[in-house]
Amino acid sequence: MAQEVRGVIAPGKNEPVRLETIVVPDPGPGEAVVQIQACGVCHTDLHYKQGGINDDFPFLLGHEAAGVVESVGEGVTDVAPGDFVILNWRAVCGQCRACLRGRPQYCFDTHNARQKMTLTDGTELTPALGIGAFADKTLVASGQCTKVDPAVSPAVAGLLGCGVMAGIGAAINTGNVGRGDTVAVIGCGGVGDAAVVGARLAGAAKIIAVDVDDRKLETARTMGATHAVNSRTTDPVEAIRELTGGFGADVVIEAVGRPETYQQAFYARDLAGTVVLVGVPTPEMKLELPLLDVFGRGGSLKSSWYGDCLPSRDFPMLVDLHQQGRIDLGAFVTETIGIDGVEGAFERMHAGDVLRSVVTL
Ligand SMILES: NC(=O)c1ccc[n+]([C@@H]2O[C@H](COP(=O)([O-])OP(=O)(O)OC[C@H]3O[C@@H](n4cnc5c(N)ncnc54)[C@H](O)[C@@H]3O)[C@@H](O)[C@H]2O)c1
Ligand SMILES: [Zn+2]
Ligand SMILES: [Zn+2]
Repeated sequence: MAQEVRGVIAPGKNEPVRLETIVVPDPGPGEAVVQIQACGVCHTDLHYKQGGINDDFPFLLGHEAAGVVESVGEGVTDVAPGDFVILNWRAVCGQCRACLRGRPQYCFDTHNARQKMTLTDGTELTPALGIGAFADKTLVASGQCTKVDPAVSPAVAGLLGCGVMAGIGAAINTGNVGRGDTVAVIGCGGVGDAAVVGARLAGAAKIIAVDVDDRKLETARTMGATHAVNSRTTDPVEAIRELTGGFGADVVIEAVGRPETYQQAFYARDLAGTVVLVGVPTPEMKLELPLLDVFGRGGSLKSSWYGDCLPSRDFPMLVDLHQQGRIDLGAFVTETIGIDGVEGAFERMHAGDVLRSVVTL
């Protein structure tokens, strides 16, 4: 029997989100219904609402979530009802070229639920990142459920499902930050601060936080940044060079998603250094760089989707490190809110008042 539960919908471009009754089908083959316990508000949800990702409205928002598996469909053996899971947007197929080459973190054909969740009038919903978890329950592919230690708080665990994983992974997986490296992070929201945490975990010698908001810089320091630069008042490229003996940083992580901050990242790295783009640009953005500089400065220009994570490898590890006190993911949870508080949380995110608001259910 399909179930009717509450869900947060983005009905159309730039329209306020609405709490609606949604219909969640019973899980079919390879699917699972998960009872959501917590779901963080990520900037990507706001991008969806603003039409910056695509036009497949209405969206069922929310994708940084943890909860308990309620039921599973035919043939599901990897998770069972009662399991505490983090939802992921990289349920790898195991069969595409990337998977077959042993690089499942680049899987080109990740799984989502086949059936659609709908409004009560039958309108099909597009779940954000194939998840849709600002809802009491959601339907996903079973591979989107990653079991972790149930002792961790759901609000903390959920954040690993997107932004925190994207940031930590941008540093440790994509940027391959190593002991003694100098690292700069441009944009210190939830994702950028997670990159700071990742850089620290990897043993970076210097971690330079860059933001336009002093409050964000202060938080970045508590997360492990050793230096802070307000790029509203100080040229960040010069400041980063100065702080790195005139060279530039070994790894610069861009966590804003704008051409001008990408350009800063490009010039703030040392020769042969690495730029990691984790911020998500919008379709109309363009970048212009002298090709000679791209060539002459060497190194690598990478983008990082989901921190190049493999959920089955990375989520349980990061939960364990958190439980042992070696990273503090609790620091990312600025506030917990009700399911009717998402629009307000977007405003506070936009105003820079929060790192993460987390809907708890
Ligand atoms: N690649 C991925 O897999 C992935 C995953 C999740 C989120 N994201 C993206 O990462 C980006 C950051 O997400 P978030 O949730 O941390 O957002 P956020 O709004 O919490 O943080 C953005 C930060 O950037 C700062 N900022 C804005 N303009 C700036 C500028 N010109 N220079 C320096 N700093 C500036 C803001 O003050 C804020 O601290 C978004 O684009 C989001 O869509 C990417
Ligand atoms: Zn694959
Ligand atoms: Zn996200």
